Amino acid sequence: MKKRIAVFVSGSGTNMENIARKVKAGELDCEIVLVVCDNPNAYALKRAEQFQLETFVIERKNFKSKAEFEAAIDQKLRGKKVDAIFLAGFMRILSAEFVQKWKWRILNIHPSLLPKYPGVCAIKDACEAKEQETGVTIHFVDEGVDSGPVILQRKVPIQPTDTLAEVEARVHTTEYELYPEAIKLFLGGKLTVDGRQVKIRGGQTPLN
Ligand code: GAR
Repeated sequence: MKKRIAVFVSGSGTNMENIARKVKAGELDCEIVLVVCDNPNAYALKRAEQFQLETFVIERKNFKSKAEFEAAIDQKLRGKKVDAIFLAGFMRILSAEFVQKWKWRILNIHPSLLPKYPGVCAIKDACEAKEQETGVTIHFVDEGVDSGPVILQRKVPIQPTDTLAEVEARVHTTEYELYPEAIKLFLGGKLTVDGRQVKIRGGQTPLN
């Protein structure tokens, strides 16, 4: 049985589109049964439409509490019999309660070499700190912010003459390779979490 996936987005949705393209091409053995989006103006919704993916737009402001907002998402996911969640530019922190319910079934992509530069401006932060390299991290989501066990990381060089846009483009290119690689390992049942560490069957190291 193919795993049933919900992809969570807030913005442009290029990572979601990349995943959807690979699913369609048969490179990722899963089915995207839902795209959850907390922003009705997100361009990701147009991309989802192009791939004929079902969308669920849900705004935090329409709920009295974060708990009620997340309960509505959870109910929708259960209704769609979702097995796992791929966060792809979803700019909200999920509560500890939600994360517990979906323990080790939520993957996230982050544009830095975590634990360096967590948060929403990771690429800009690395450039402003005059780093010579940054990177991309795919990790399981835990109760912290960008702190869960790392599945894969890949470095991206920063040249002193680079503009922010150039670094962003390089980071995105790496994201489009690395997230599908991590998803493949996940879908293939190759990942286990041991304490804070992800073990990958087949000998791959997290920083590769
Ligand atoms: C990606 O660069 C992703 O790594 C980042 O948001 C961007 C979404 O782009 N995520 C975070 O910063 C999470 N803290 P996209 O909407 O085009 O896929």
